[in-house]
Amino acid sequence: MNIFASSESIVRSYCRAFPARFETARGSSIFTVDGVEYLDFLSGCGSLNYGHNVPVLKEELLDYIANDSISMSMDLETTSKEKFLTAFNDTILAPRNLNYRVQFTGPTGANAVESAIKLARKVTGRSNVIAFTNAFHGCSLGALSLTGNQHQRESSSSLLNQVTRMPYDGYFGDDVDTSDMLAKMLDDPSSGIDKPAAIIFEAVQGEGGLNCASQEWAQKIQAIAEQHGALLIVDEIQSGVGRTGSFFAFEPLGIKPDIVCLAKAISGYGLPMSLTLFKPEYDVWKPGEHNGTFRGNNLAFVTATAAILHFWQDETLMQNVRTSSAQLTDFASKLTNHGNICVKGKGLMTGFEFDCAHKAKRIQTACFENGLIIELCGPTDAILKPLPALNISQDTLDRGLGIIGKAISKSG
Ligand SMILES: Cc1ncc(COP(=O)(O)O)c(C=O)c1O
Repeated sequence: MNIFASSESIVRSYCRAFPARFETARGSSIFTVDGVEYLDFLSGCGSLNYGHNVPVLKEELLDYIANDSISMSMDLETTSKEKFLTAFNDTILAPRNLNYRVQFTGPTGANAVESAIKLARKVTGRSNVIAFTNAFHGCSLGALSLTGNQHQRESSSSLLNQVTRMPYDGYFGDDVDTSDMLAKMLDDPSSGIDKPAAIIFEAVQGEGGLNCASQEWAQKIQAIAEQHGALLIVDEIQSGVGRTGSFFAFEPLGIKPDIVCLAKAISGYGLPMSLTLFKPEYDVWKPGEHNGTFRGNNLAFVTATAAILHFWQDETLMQNVRTSSAQLTDFASKLTNHGNICVKGKGLMTGFEFDCAHKAKRIQTACFENGLIIELCGPTDAILKPLPALNISQDTLDRGLGIIGKAISKSG
């Protein structure tokens, strides 16, 4: 029995699908202790947007450490945080005409979600939050109460309250507009739904199955939130930082959320860092009211700043996302004679849904045996979800798709 099996909790999960001892990584490749290469289409569940150990970020980080610069600072003012805030405001927010205050939360996506719902409750003086089917917002208690997945909810089911679940866009098929259902129920004083503090959704649902909110639906949800005095929270933890073809996945939807949650890829290097962004008028926190020891991960600020300055000054990265996602869709269109394979998602959150979860699992296993690490998602894990680096080359993506294609052929 190895040390992981004997010492580490049964709760570990990815290592079960990808049983190997990993040691080094560069770009889109990750290597085992024996030097075996795997293509990494898991990318730290979308955290490694620019691949592993990106040279330009690594250099900045090594210089920073070599200078005895501050690594941990709680919420003290540091030069690395100053540089991050300046780059984030100048390069990301201002050009998009977004005026948000930035809150550095504890360094998990779930903590950004916790702070978002606490803030909305504090602003409105209400408790109820509207969340959607197939949503995934994290596994801490508040975030889990918003999450749909039964497997995760069962870890703490009796404590998940003050949330009303509504159907996400398309949940009942194309003919039913689920925003109308929400509007009707909130308009009806006898529907049994308490006035919400917030409505929270993902523009593209990551764990829940690569479902995309349409522009019309998102705009109606924003109007409903406004009409009922609720704050609109968009969870960009998986879909944000360029994964769907724009920095924020909500941009093409033509909405301006009151609160936005960001984490995963924001540091650009897989270093823990999370942000909650909100309109200045909602900055009603008392100092220290929501806190956390590790809000000041300066190493993450350094790589986040370098990533913004290096990758977000022009359209090159987003052009690569567009080309690569077209490659994914084209690949799927050629997969005939393999049962129903449905293409879902957007940008480099585009995946392939199979008619049964067992088949998806077999394909994932065959991919691993042939050198590719790739995740499954959706309510029953029937969707193969490639999350490659956004700057992946066409050749490397082709190599990965070749492995997936062979695995699908073998799966019958
Ligand atoms: C949309 C979304 N929200 C929140 C989270 C939770 O983030 P974390 O695992 O860092 O707590 C995730 C994680 O996958 C996510 O995809």
